[in-house]
Amino acid sequence: MKMSVANLKGGAGKTTTAVYLSSALALEGRTLLIDADPQGSALSWSETAGNFPLPVVAAPVKDLHRRVPQLAEGYAHVVIDTPPGELAITRSAMMAADVVVLPIPPALMDLDRLRPTLEVLADLEGLHEPQLFCLLTRVRKGTRSSKAAREVLGELGLNVLDAEVTLKESYANGFGLALADDLGEYAEVLRELQGKVGA
Ligand SMILES: Nc1ncnc2c1ncn2[C@@H]1O[C@H](COP(=O)(O)OP(=O)(O)OP(=O)(O)O)[C@@H](O)[C@H]1O
Ligand SMILES: [Mg+2]
Repeated sequence: MKMSVANLKGGAGKTTTAVYLSSALALEGRTLLIDADPQGSALSWSETAGNFPLPVVAAPVKDLHRRVPQLAEGYAHVVIDTPPGELAITRSAMMAADVVVLPIPPALMDLDRLRPTLEVLADLEGLHEPQLFCLLTRVRKGTRSSKAAREVLGELGLNVLDAEVTLKESYANGFGLALADDLGEYAEVLRELQGKVGA
């Protein structure tokens, strides 16, 4: 699977999602995590961890889609973490992917700022059309926000994964840790994705 995790809005949960999902994929086959964010958060996460379960390379470039075939050689799976606000890199990462995961907290401000990311994908129509899945992240248990967000996303005609990631200290404190056997709700997210990809 070639997956890009994208949302032009900052702080949506991209890096957390990319690290957890790539760690989950690494249990199944050789997986490469590409850090396309000039801030290098995924790379420093892996370096801080020391025994990170998969290789991470930094490639914050606008022609990522041209480089990925070579970078991905010998890997079963590639996950790309993308930066906030960098249209050209995000576009290129989407071009490189067959699956785009769009993490989004179920807050009005995040829903309101979705349009630029969707426009990048819409611009690729006819050129390259990866499957898009929205993933609700930082969901507060027992609140209506997730249901309300699902309604808004549904009205936009977007696929939203049933699996969602709740707001938890363990995710916030995950930075710099190797996540080998504690993938939390992301294990279920990956299962659902794999069931739906190609479907
Ligand atoms: N499910 C969660 N529960 C609690 N905290 C979370 C969760 N997911 C992410 N966070 C925290 O929210 C913040 C933003 O997450 P993250 O860095 O993954 O977002 P991002 O989209 O990569 O941000 P940026 O746009 O700056 O790259 C981080 O401090 C992270 O630890
Ligand atoms: Mg990030």
